[in-house]
Amino acid sequence: MPQGLGRVLISREEIAARIGELGRAVAREHAGRVPLLVGVLKGAVVFMADLIRTIPVPVAMDFMGVSSYGSGARSSGSVRLTADLSMSIEGRAVVIVEDIVDTGWTLDYLRRNLETRHPRSLRICALLDKVERRQVDVSLDYVGFAIPDHFVLGYGFDLGGLYRGLPDIHILEET
Ligand code: PRP
Repeated sequence: MPQGLGRVLISREEIAARIGELGRAVAREHAGRVPLLVGVLKGAVVFMADLIRTIPVPVAMDFMGVSSYGSGARSSGSVRLTADLSMSIEGRAVVIVEDIVDTGWTLDYLRRNLETRHPRSLRICALLDKVERRQVDVSLDYVGFAIPDHFVLGYGFDLGGLYRGLPDIHILEET
């Protein structure tokens, strides 16, 4: 691990165990369907890759990109689509796969956007939930871990675009 990146908040073993539970829940609640998992670029790529391997039924996968903004104030108006799905979701059982919910504006935007495309169902699966940061109410169907308001990195979470490949989730060390 690079120096100064702080202690492990959630270990790879804890992540793997929890994702197994999430995957089984997704499969159970989509019995008889082929769910379409929609990953939100870029952070959710690592989570998505592990999640699909825990779902014991056939699943389809696609991705969307949304504008990434700095640490400043966010609002629904500041979320922008940067990459769209490659297929229609009309009539599909869709699960949005997100790495973290912070203010909630990104998922609020994505939910509204995808609902206009008439999916059969629309669920949200988030690995981390920073509950105390929420500005807009978003209903989450599958949550990995609720965490305090720490800056996290590793397992998809970046610092200046780096460290997404660390296998554990770390807390950035305060300096
Ligand atoms: C993060 C995260 C969510 C969003 C959540 O993305 O992946 O998409 O912020 O924040 P919100 O609930 O306040 O809207 P980020 O902009 O860091 O992009 P990345 O996934 O490419 O790292």
